[in-house]
Amino acid sequence: MTAIHIQGLGTYVPAKRITNDDLASRVDTSDEWIVSRTGIKARHMLADDENGSDAGVKAALLALEDAGLEPGDITHVLTATCTPDYLCPSTACILSGKLGTHGAMAFDLNAACTGFVYGLDVARGLLAGNPDAKILLVGSEAFTRRMNWNDRTTCILFGDGAAAVVLTDGDAGTPRACLPSAARLRDVQCGADGRQYPLLTVGGGTARNYRPGDPVQDDFYLQMQGREVFKLAVRSLSSVCAQLLERNGLSLDDVDLFIPHQANLRIIEAVGDRLKLGADKVFVNLDEYGNTSAASIPLGIGDACRQGRIRAGSRVLISAFGGGFTWGAALLEF
Ligand code: UT7
Repeated sequence: MTAIHIQGLGTYVPAKRITNDDLASRVDTSDEWIVSRTGIKARHMLADDENGSDAGVKAALLALEDAGLEPGDITHVLTATCTPDYLCPSTACILSGKLGTHGAMAFDLNAACTGFVYGLDVARGLLAGNPDAKILLVGSEAFTRRMNWNDRTTCILFGDGAAAVVLTDGDAGTPRACLPSAARLRDVQCGADGRQYPLLTVGGGTARNYRPGDPVQDDFYLQMQGREVFKLAVRSLSSVCAQLLERNGLSLDDVDLFIPHQANLRIIEAVGDRLKLGADKVFVNLDEYGNTSAASIPLGIGDACRQGRIRAGSRVLISAFGGGFTWGAALLEF
């Protein structure tokens, strides 16, 4: 029986910080509206000469340092992203080339904002088949590159960032920099309802038959039916968390910290109410980063460790939802 552990974690957020007031100078919005409807105060943006793969490399180097490993030790590179550098090659291959994990299997995984949780489930399967594997799972997003800066209903929500973890079979000792202890992946559960795919789309794929010289259409950017996504998010997060806890014979009293996908504070509060979780057990950092999609949960784990809210012995529930429509939850025991 494999006992998968997160052995190291690293995070990276670009230096350029965009405040709500900055956005209010571009579209008809205000700091008051954005904070009261979303909880977001700022988001970070990649520099012009920096791509999602570069952000991923920076996070990955820190994760390797935390795990006490070298790039050459890695056997698999998985990048969870829905804003890849290119349709092909994968961001995982580009990142692998820059990082020096030559020869390791490398591929992207697109489950939108649930990508990191899906990645844990995929890594669990890979480690079951190959207990010697050392897997680098990177959530990296460049969402500001697909924002329609004329659409006030979406451009206020998203930011760029990356976070990476190293997954191994067994606990190889105390991490060196970020995590207070290795974290056992106790269980993970994921699902999707593809009938809901039109609710959230990011263009640039082959669904639209662009010809040379065609102007970019609005569907090139992120498009979202926010209210519908909001309702589905609250329902799916609450139910996948309840199911995961039940099948592990646990209740919310057994959870020390809940780290939900950071999309909207009102979604997080509604899920907390449904699950009857006190606000002190719910982690929030979207005020500073906005929605960083597949990077959101590992960025949250990193911040929670640095703030001392995750300690050796903590049991942490993570849960995400996203385009697709996808959802997932996992239990981590530090
Ligand atoms: O990772 C998955 C990503 N997606 C999500 O998690 C999104 C989930 N949905 C949401 O977070 C919310 O639905 C939004 C934040 C997107 C929107 O909040 P809302 O409370 O659902 O607002 P609404 O769409 O019902 O719009 C209310 C009003 C509208 O005006 P009218 O029609 O009432 O006159 C909008 O035009 O607010 C207006 N509005 C804005 N006003 C100022 C929408 N965006 C803005 C804005 N600034 N940025």
